[in-house]
Amino acid sequence: MEKRTLHTPDLTARNIERIADLFPQVVTESRDAEGKVTLAVDFDLLRQELSDHVVEGPQERYRLDWPGKRAAAFAANAPIAKTLRPVHEESVDFDTTKNLFIEGDNLDALKLLQESYLGKVKLIYIDPPYNTGNDFVYEDDFAESSAEYLARSGQMSETGDRLVANTEANGRFHSDWLSMMYPRLRLARNLLRADGVICVSIDDIERDNLGRLLDEVFGAENFVDSLIWKKRYGGGAKEKFFVSLHEYILVYARDASALANIEIALTAESVARYYTSKDANFDRRGPYRTHPLEATKSMDARPNLVYAIPGPSGDIWPERQWLWSRERALAALNAGELEFVTSRSGAFTVHTKQYLRDEDGNQRRGKPFSIIDDVYTQHGTNEMLDLFGDAKVFPFPKPTGMLKNLIDALAPDAGDIVLDLFAGSGSTAHALMAQNVEDSMDRPFVMVQMPETSDIVLNSGTRFSNVAELSRERIRRAAAKLQLKNEALDGPRDLGFRTLVIDSTNLVDVALSADATQQDLLEALEFSIKPGRSGEDLLFQVLLDWGLELSLPVVREALDGREVFSVDDGALIACFAESVSPEVVRAIAERGPLRAVFRDAAFESDAARINADQVFREVSPATEVRTI
Ligand SMILES: C[S@@+](CC[C@H](N)C(=O)[O-])C[C@H]1O[C@@H](n2cnc3c(N)ncnc32)[C@H](O)[C@@H]1O
Repeated sequence: MEKRTLHTPDLTARNIERIADLFPQVVTESRDAEGKVTLAVDFDLLRQELSDHVVEGPQERYRLDWPGKRAAAFAANAPIAKTLRPVHEESVDFDTTKNLFIEGDNLDALKLLQESYLGKVKLIYIDPPYNTGNDFVYEDDFAESSAEYLARSGQMSETGDRLVANTEANGRFHSDWLSMMYPRLRLARNLLRADGVICVSIDDIERDNLGRLLDEVFGAENFVDSLIWKKRYGGGAKEKFFVSLHEYILVYARDASALANIEIALTAESVARYYTSKDANFDRRGPYRTHPLEATKSMDARPNLVYAIPGPSGDIWPERQWLWSRERALAALNAGELEFVTSRSGAFTVHTKQYLRDEDGNQRRGKPFSIIDDVYTQHGTNEMLDLFGDAKVFPFPKPTGMLKNLIDALAPDAGDIVLDLFAGSGSTAHALMAQNVEDSMDRPFVMVQMPETSDIVLNSGTRFSNVAELSRERIRRAAAKLQLKNEALDGPRDLGFRTLVIDSTNLVDVALSADATQQDLLEALEFSIKPGRSGEDLLFQVLLDWGLELSLPVVREALDGREVFSVDDGALIACFAESVSPEVVRAIAERGPLRAVFRDAAFESDAARINADQVFREVSPATEVRTI
């Protein structure tokens, strides 16, 4: 039986494995600070392998640099001893929903999700603090100089956390923001599918830095677009220079060559632009625009596409050839779906009608524009007003209409996972549920939001002490509204979510140095699991550890008086009872799960542990058995 560790994966070790994959000869063994043998890279050999491509020492090079960059890269790789603890009371449809709401710092969340969601996410949308000087930027504790700076300037929050206003007076105004973003973007990239995409909202303050940072993390070749969002229609008497009406959404693909054509359903708003007034028309099949039936020069010559079409004043021949076969063109003609347009010379050209709805009545899809100008900040504010009766509960939530556009274009299929690492008021979750109800699909969401303290009091007197609480309530209220629509359509869609809170690991840290170990701690060490942690807490740590998705359905049952969890119909069976009888071990083995896990201390003796192993080998040899 394998005993589990308590840290998130060591990403430096994983990077070394990747290098070993490419250049096995450069990976060697060395001793770490504690004298343990570890794998290491022989840079002299690697340099040889890349002889013409290595930039040495202080030589000038093209790159984005700032003080703290190296520490930020290190922060991305450093393992953490944390876990995700499920909270039933803060969840809706806990056992069956595929949606997750993770409360905590997103850097920790990203590390915890590295195994379970590696290469699985289709769309990441993030709306980080824009570094306006008034918003809060989370200071990671890896930058020692930052901590000193904070201590000096007394910028710790009341609860001692490191959420500080990054004012321009701070000499590291841009550096701190970049250091916050860099490790998060690196880790976020790992979670994307090959055809996955990240969209990052930003305004002018950090747009250039963000673009350069994304170029570095995702590769400039994976740049998709820099969308302009026209966020308000006017106003701005306060402005000294131009009336600034827009912000940006930078879009990068994990691998642009794997990304399919992007299209969105043409809605009533977008149709006004797609079917421009010049060629917008209506007939019994609704709005359409026209397109010449004449083939372009790039099309191979095909004699069967050269024929006459009877027009208003006699046969019309193509200059070269038509796009459609004779049968298709004549059928369209009979159905009134060809249009004859007179040119200046008086000759007729033939046009086809492209309808907004296809023959089956489905809305046609078309290329989205790089400027979004039919949905405004005010819509986002109105949505909060509608849900909470108060517009001031959250500053500038993104309108769901804008997010639905992104979801429809970039996560168009059922099952596409959408992740938001700066969930704020939960607009992305709201937009995703609304989109799912509209197009009858289930795409799961993962929201991450830290419990940023904020005393939010509604007009009704309801209080939210932090943003994560508000965000969950927004999702609940939005879901309740959508439920009505859902029932009227072909629902039921998934309108629940599972709340998981980031906390210290469930396991006692046995790796503490001797002088940090106190007497009462020694007693606790006898049991490797911290007091107060439930079986379900352990279950989620095991899911993370095994790289299983955190949204898998969980069924609880009792076997011989012990609580047993069955995950995803036998993908994993877990029993964390203080003691397990041979009967329980056998009953679990007889179910033939892919994986089984027990509490290490549940076995009275080494003999009992070996016995259990033996039972599995006989009854269900394919089961992978572990203890924690
Ligand atoms: C600009 S707001 C996002 C607004 C959101 N798009 C909406 O429409 O409501 C950024 C949010 O990220 C949160 N945040 C900042 N740093 C974070 C971190 N390190 N981990 C998790 N959340 C963070 C803040 O609390 C804030 O609510």
